[in-house]
Amino acid sequence: MLKGFVFDLDGVITDTARFHYQAWAKIAKDELGITINPSVNEQLKGVSRMDSLNVILRFGNQENRYTESQKAQFATEKNDYYISLISHMTPSDILPGMKQFLDDIKAGGYGISLASASKNAPRILTGLGLTDYFDAIVDPATLHRGKPDPEIFARGAALLKIAPSEAVGLEDAVAGIQAIKAAGEFAVGIGDPKLLHQADLNFTTTADVALPKIVDAFMAAHPVQ
Ligand code: BG6
Ligand code: MG
Repeated sequence: MLKGFVFDLDGVITDTARFHYQAWAKIAKDELGITINPSVNEQLKGVSRMDSLNVILRFGNQENRYTESQKAQFATEKNDYYISLISHMTPSDILPGMKQFLDDIKAGGYGISLASASKNAPRILTGLGLTDYFDAIVDPATLHRGKPDPEIFARGAALLKIAPSEAVGLEDAVAGIQAIKAAGEFAVGIGDPKLLHQADLNFTTTADVALPKIVDAFMAAHPVQ
């Protein structure tokens, strides 16, 4: 039986990737002398802050150039700038269809939790005016491994006190879909169906996401014995 929804945030509920990109591009250029491009940005999606810095350093062939404390300093600087960018977010930054979708699942009595790798997720939900929809938020600082490890989605279901088999996970990133599947949950991909082919159900854009379609596909995948 379907009992709850575990959401990714960036790329599913709102588009923060452009702000992460803007902030990393500035730090990479000013501090590291590295010019990043959109294809590097793709590799930062769903990846933790420090892992993102490591992706950029590897791209610039500077993997071993800095100490851990210097790297922590760069990450803090990036985050300070990122926070200044997201501080202007409002409900108008919710991706098309997602407010209605959240209303529909709330009205259906399902649990809702957040499984975002971002330590800024609570701040973003506040800006979007969506905090009250969420019964639980996974704290990424408490996790041992990031996506595609299942830990974050497993925790998202556990916080709702439901089994993974009773949960739907929603993701826009390949690593996120892999994490949902590895957690034993039903995976809904949002984005390019070719890229997200491991999902159980796919919507090309957030505007297409519809609760009845998810419920039907979930039931078809879980036939009553
Ligand atoms: C994910 C983003 O949601 O959060 C990544 O897709 C980001 O790009 C990660 O690096 C960590 O975010 P934060 O806000 O903790 O630096
Ligand atoms: Mg995402």
